Amino acid sequence: MNNKDWTINNWYATPQKMFDVEDKVTVVTGAASGLGRAIALGFGALGAKLVLADLNTDGAEETAAEIDVEKIVVKCDVSRLEDVQNLLKQTLDHYKRVDVSFNIPGINVRKPALELTYDEWDSVIEINLKGVFRCAKEIGKVMVDQKKGSMINMASVFSEIVMPRQVAYASTKGAIRQMTRVLAAEWAPHVRVNAIGPCYMETPLVKQVMENKEWYEKVKRQNMLQRFGKPEEVVGPSIFLASEASRLITGFMLLVDAGWHCYGGEV
Ligand SMILES: NC(=O)c1ccc[n+]([C@@H]2O[C@H](COP(=O)([O-])OP(=O)(O)OC[C@H]3O[C@@H](n4cnc5c(N)ncnc54)[C@H](O)[C@@H]3O)[C@@H](O)[C@H]2O)c1
Repeated sequence: MNNKDWTINNWYATPQKMFDVEDKVTVVTGAASGLGRAIALGFGALGAKLVLADLNTDGAEETAAEIDVEKIVVKCDVSRLEDVQNLLKQTLDHYKRVDVSFNIPGINVRKPALELTYDEWDSVIEINLKGVFRCAKEIGKVMVDQKKGSMINMASVFSEIVMPRQVAYASTKGAIRQMTRVLAAEWAPHVRVNAIGPCYMETPLVKQVMENKEWYEKVKRQNMLQRFGKPEEVVGPSIFLASEASRLITGFMLLVDAGWHCYGGEV
């Protein structure tokens, strides 16, 4: 190939198309609130075909009402395998395929390890880790069969760093990072599996922290940008991982963390 053959026209996609998610069948679990809601709204605005799933169907319906594209709402508790299987059935009945999946739901119980009950530990593992695996495995089967798909698991900056009172949560988020890598290795080359690792974002999940002024101010100072993220700030990175723009990227956790993971703090 000489230089004149290497033009923008023979790239795998034009720069405009690289970030295209229009018509991509996109499953968002946790679509009723916070980051899932923001991702659903963002992908809806770009013309994706949506499946909005959540335990909280009223909330998912409210998200759906704000989106003017083809969409279905499915009740799904990710701690129940039959719900996740039903989510897939409804998706395939309606759209016949899945192009993108965001495996999002997560909860937290913020307590020192010595005070955390075994039931609390189990509840966090059940949703954050086993729930993501149920979604990943069931949706992954379809993507592997199709020989196509981009899966994005919701991890956290706590996949990378730690703080006291996060033992169950950080354990699940560290595990999601490794799960993402293994699935990426097993499902290559046709299916890509990545993760997103946000810092504290202004959602109901961190209400407890935001309502305590001292705790809130302390946490804000942990990252380079000295603030919490807004839910919509996870949308750009999500589009990147879902689209052809990231087609050489798999098994990766994209930190959306205001530089927290490597910040040593002020001196
Ligand atoms: N907000 C943050 O600071 C932050 C930071 C890093 C990572 N995350 C991760 O992002 C994800 C979303 O968090 P968020 O802040 O948007 O929280 P959120 O509480 O605003 O939303 C979570 C959504 O998940 C749904 N959900 C809970 N349990 C479910 C279940 N069993 N089955 C189906 N849906 C269920 C809830 O109904 C809700 O709609 C979580 O995995 C969380 O760990 C959040």
